[in-house]
Amino acid sequence: FFVGGNWKCNGTKESISKLVSDLNAATLESDVDVVVAPPFIYIDQVKSSLTDRIEVSAQNTWIGKGGAFTGEISAEQLVDIGCQWVILGHSERRHVIGEDDQFIGKKAAYALSQNLKVMACIGELLEEREAGKTFDVCFKQMKAFADNITDWKNVVIAYEPVWAIGTGKVASPEQAQEVHAAVRDWLKTNVSADVASTVRIIYGGSVNAANCAELAKKEDIDGFLVGGASLKGPDFATICNSV
Ligand code: G3H
Repeated sequence: FFVGGNWKCNGTKESISKLVSDLNAATLESDVDVVVAPPFIYIDQVKSSLTDRIEVSAQNTWIGKGGAFTGEISAEQLVDIGCQWVILGHSERRHVIGEDDQFIGKKAAYALSQNLKVMACIGELLEEREAGKTFDVCFKQMKAFADNITDWKNVVIAYEPVWAIGTGKVASPEQAQEVHAAVRDWLKTNVSADVASTVRIIYGGSVNAANCAELAKKEDIDGFLVGGASLKGPDFATICNSV
C-alpha cells in the first residue's frame, strides 16, 4: 500500500511545523509506504524535521539538467537536498499550467535517470468521462509515460479523475476500480505482465478519512494520492492506515 500527501501550494513555516509534528506523532502501519510532497521551498524544513519513516516528494521538476532555466528546480537539486520522489503529470500542471503528455513523459525519464522515484499522474476531465473517453484519455497519458520509462520499479501510477479533485465528489470504489483494472490491463498488453502485476496504482480525488476504507478494499486500488485531507495530520494517518 502506498499513500502520498500532496500539499500543493499550501502552508507556512508555522503550519508545516505543526503538520510535521502531527505526522511524527502518528502511528503508521508497517506495510504502507508514506510520502509527503511539500511546496519546494519547504522541502528542506520538512526533510530536517520529519521522521525518516515518511519519504519526501517534490510536486514538479525541470525536464532536464539544470542551468539557465529561470524559476525551475532540477532533479539534481532535489536529490541534493534529500528529496526521494517527484509528482509528475498532476492535472493541475496539465490543465492549469499547460504541460502536455510529451513534456511530462520526458520529465519522468529525466527524473528517473537521476534516481528520483516518480508518482505518474493520469486522469480524465468530466467532459471526457461524459463523452465515454475515460479509457482513451488515460491510455494516451499512459503511453506518453511508457514511451519514456524503461524501468518501472521506481514508479507509482496515480489515477486522479479531474472531476474528483478538490470537489468533494469522490469516485465510487467501482468507478475507480474499473479504471485501475483497465490501466493494469493496458500495462500487461503494452509494457509487460510483470510490470502490470507489480506496479502500484493509487487513486486520488477527494479521498478523506471517511471514504478511504471502502476504496481501499478494491483489488486494484493500491493506495491514495491525497490533497486536502493530507493537510490534517490525524486524517492523513487514518488514510495511511486504511488498508
Ligand atoms: O494530488 C492530489 C489530488 O489532486 C487530490 O486532491 O484530495 O484535494 O481532491 P484532493
